[in-house]
Amino acid sequence: DNIAKKRQMYEDILKQVTVLKDMDPYERSKVADCLKSKTFKTGDIIINEGEQGDTFYILIDGKATALKSDQVIKTYAKGDYFGELALLRNQPRAATVKAESTCQVVYLERKGFKRLLGPIEKILIRNVENYKQVLKELGIDSSCIEEN
Ligand code: CMP
Repeated sequence: DNIAKKRQMYEDILKQVTVLKDMDPYERSKVADCLKSKTFKTGDIIINEGEQGDTFYILIDGKATALKSDQVIKTYAKGDYFGELALLRNQPRAATVKAESTCQVVYLERKGFKRLLGPIEKILIRNVENYKQVLKELGIDSSCIEEN
């Protein structure tokens, strides 16, 4: 049926998401059941720096960039994720994320994120170290992502 089809489709997509590869298939199928999808147009702002955020995104098609102080701090392609930081830290969005082409995303709201991504929370937190490094290299203030 439709639900089974949707689940299979999302499970196939999630298998290509690096950070979710370490989850066991059952955990991943739970995530798949909870995902919603959305399309952004070229130039759309997906995340606005400084705003409150409750959504974790996975890019499943298209190109996007993260920006801070008018500098590109990261580029995203299929299988990449963003928006986890505000949820992990209960802080405003640390950067802006902009669609550089038509972007197909799947997303989880805060509740689902906390409940379903517990198994990979440590990996997500570990990756925040890379963010600090990038900001330092670019000479951008990284105090917004230091531990509180
Ligand atoms: P969040 O703060 O919720 O919203 C902006 C997102 O940009 C952030 O989560 C990260 O997912 C992403 N991002 C990419 N690179 C960086 C970086 N160097 N510092 C902070 N956030 C970054």
